[in-house]
Amino acid sequence: MMNQKGNEFKGLFGGANYKRFASFLGMGIEFYRKGVGAIKLSAGMKALDLGCGPGGVSFVLAETAHPQAEIFGIDISDDQLNYAQKFASRYKCKIQFNKQSMDELPYPDDYFDFVLTSMALHETPPEVRRDSIVEVSRVLKKNGRFVLVDWSKPKFGLLGIVWYPFTRWGQKNKDNWHNVYPELCKKQGLILENDHYINSLTRRQVFRKPGQTQ
Ligand SMILES: C[S@@+](CC[C@H](N)C(=O)[O-])C[C@H]1O[C@@H](n2cnc3c(N)ncnc32)[C@H](O)[C@@H]1O
Repeated sequence: MMNQKGNEFKGLFGGANYKRFASFLGMGIEFYRKGVGAIKLSAGMKALDLGCGPGGVSFVLAETAHPQAEIFGIDISDDQLNYAQKFASRYKCKIQFNKQSMDELPYPDDYFDFVLTSMALHETPPEVRRDSIVEVSRVLKKNGRFVLVDWSKPKFGLLGIVWYPFTRWGQKNKDNWHNVYPELCKKQGLILENDHYINSLTRRQVFRKPGQTQ
């Protein structure tokens, strides 16, 4: 359901239902592993998962995280957060799920080593998307990384051809389709370091906040 902060995935579209549907669409554990890539949280590191849903990205991060690392997941949907919370105690590191919109982050400046978001930015209105990137830049530590996974214009290949008409219809006015994220991130001082497709439709972009670490 769309509200002023974004599309809130609840009821039929939230929690266990979301997880089943996402997995049917190819967003199972391997998809989240590709999104997280080689990131491994060491002791004392902190990561934030924006629009965490039922926790796909957070739990992949937690698989390899040091017990003294911390993972924070935020979402605007109680259904997604409540479902994610059920699994948090399976992991050794601390994982917190909180109800929060990604454009109003209740964290201090220079707080996170990594901020990640998977398939969530396009679910927000343009002004929320822009404010979220301002917030990401603020809460990231210097040399911290922002990992942004989202739909983009499909690459060709069977999946790309099948999905092209649907994604074009639904996404053509959106920042992800037009690959506007690098420009928005650049305005906030974030430098694009890596950009590749993890399947025919989904792009993974990694940005770095420059500066000397203290
Ligand atoms: C397509 S789901 C992606 C969930 C998860 N990241 C994944 O990759 O499976 C998008 C999620 O973003 C959440 N969302 C939408 N607008 C949001 C906002 N402004 N702040 C935080 N979460 C938001 C929705 O409730 C939903 O759980």
